[in-house]
Amino acid sequence: MLACIILISWLLLIWLYFLWSRRRYYWAAWQLRGPIGLPFIGMGLQMMKPETFLQYMAGLSYKYKAPFISWMGTDCFLYVNDPQSVEQVFNSTHCTNKSDFYRFISSAIGDGLFTSSSPRWQKHRRLINPAFGRQILCNFLPIFNTEAEVLLNKLEVEGVQQCKGVEIYLILKKIVLEAACQTTMGKKMNFQHDGSMAIFEAYSGITEVCVKRMLSPWLYPELIYRWSQLFGRQQKVVSVLFGFVEQLLQPNVAVVGVANKQQEQEQHQQQQQQQPRSKSKSIFIEQVREHVEIGQQMSWQDVRDEANVIIAATFETTSTALYFTILCLAMHPEYQEKLHAELKAELPAQGDIAIEQLERLSYTEMAINEAMRLFAPVPMVLRRAGQDLLLRRSDGEFLIPRGTQIGIDIYNMQRDERVWGYLASSYNPDAHFGPEAPKAHAFAFVPFTKGLRMCIGYRYALLLMKLLLAKIFRSYRISTDARLEELRVKGNISLKLEQYPLCRVERRT
Ligand code: HEM
Repeated sequence: MLACIILISWLLLIWLYFLWSRRRYYWAAWQLRGPIGLPFIGMGLQMMKPETFLQYMAGLSYKYKAPFISWMGTDCFLYVNDPQSVEQVFNSTHCTNKSDFYRFISSAIGDGLFTSSSPRWQKHRRLINPAFGRQILCNFLPIFNTEAEVLLNKLEVEGVQQCKGVEIYLILKKIVLEAACQTTMGKKMNFQHDGSMAIFEAYSGITEVCVKRMLSPWLYPELIYRWSQLFGRQQKVVSVLFGFVEQLLQPNVAVVGVANKQQEQEQHQQQQQQQPRSKSKSIFIEQVREHVEIGQQMSWQDVRDEANVIIAATFETTSTALYFTILCLAMHPEYQEKLHAELKAELPAQGDIAIEQLERLSYTEMAINEAMRLFAPVPMVLRRAGQDLLLRRSDGEFLIPRGTQIGIDIYNMQRDERVWGYLASSYNPDAHFGPEAPKAHAFAFVPFTKGLRMCIGYRYALLLMKLLLAKIFRSYRISTDARLEELRVKGNISLKLEQYPLCRVERRT
């Protein structure tokens, strides 16, 4: 009996100590009141469905005054979706590290730039930055132009000649991954070949697994997770991805299976032709190799981790943003015609596009920005307060304790009527990005985020997207039966749709 009382007293003391050590979080939660959820799992049950997560958060942000504090598992979670607070978080030098929730990504695919914390992040960012500078990007234009021709050919054969609805998203993913492999790893692939499907499935599989785990606090403890079905799925997709990236890192190895000898020879010839263009000293893989072999500033494991992230970050986000731009234009023929008028005025009917021509395409850029506003390719980013943060809200200043997880809801902020006015949910490039458009807050539109941790590849993405869109809409008209208000998005690391509508392709005369 006495032993029992002592044990219970000890447990009670430990519990009280636990609560006492977290008193600053409770005080912040008391001031910035949001939904509390259940003990130990917080809002896990309500948030666990990626299909409804973003819509659920939008509802909460109207019910409670954002920014508000909520709980995920036992973690204190600050939810932010207004430009003023977003500015404070992105500009704070104490909020550059990613949230602890990203440990589920790094434990699956390695600790690359997207997830790593200082000082590792700072060092790697400094080493990798030069691989995405403006001058180097200009060298990628011949590759982008070649891939654009492959894309047009696909649209011509599948869309125009076969006269059927086209699943453009998959075509785009293959083109963008092909461009990413050539421009970052110096490898010419052959993704139009069916053997590559497993790689695309693995990429979407890994993001689904990581998000599912982030939204399921009961799977946070490693011991429980390793017994779950989700872990089994993670192991499968990770082995495909690691195998793929490992082969990309090998010098001169063809990665995607080739059907026959002739195809193999053709691929070899193509590789030879690509060598002088893509194997420049300045591309990502050559630079990091130098950091390993000469500067000894990185290990081979670092290179693997960074390559995993660079490939995934390039192709998942860029193909998503491209797809939504094409879909929005297909749903809005009036803006597609305006875009075509610009392309007709600025570009010849055929041939490669030069950087100077791309820089003149202002309406194309507006069309892309408007699609990224409405369909933020990365809907939410998560940070962690490394030090106490003083957050200013209209009704006062609030202390956000060190260690608080911060969720910046880009998706809902960029379609919030309080920020963008009554046309917030419509696709209208002129109303939001045209010369006459009212000036939005500098942090109301942040698809690549802003501040020190901003996307390293934003120039790359804009260049590739502009070029591919210019090529498509210069020669083709795209249409669809889908309607904007019927699209159902899914919260993921990059935005997904529950169903991808087919598009019709028609050649312009
Ligand atoms: C439309 C296309 C793209 C979008 C919308 C996008 C968006 C983002 C976002 C929101 C982040 C997180 C930033 C933060 O946490 O503050 C990010 C990080 C990152 N992106 Fe992109 N991205 C795109 C294309 C690319 C491309 C083409 C590359 C590579 C060439 C790339 C490489 C990265 C990397 C390495 C990071 C981590 C950077 C760091 O933490 O230092 N992204 N991106």
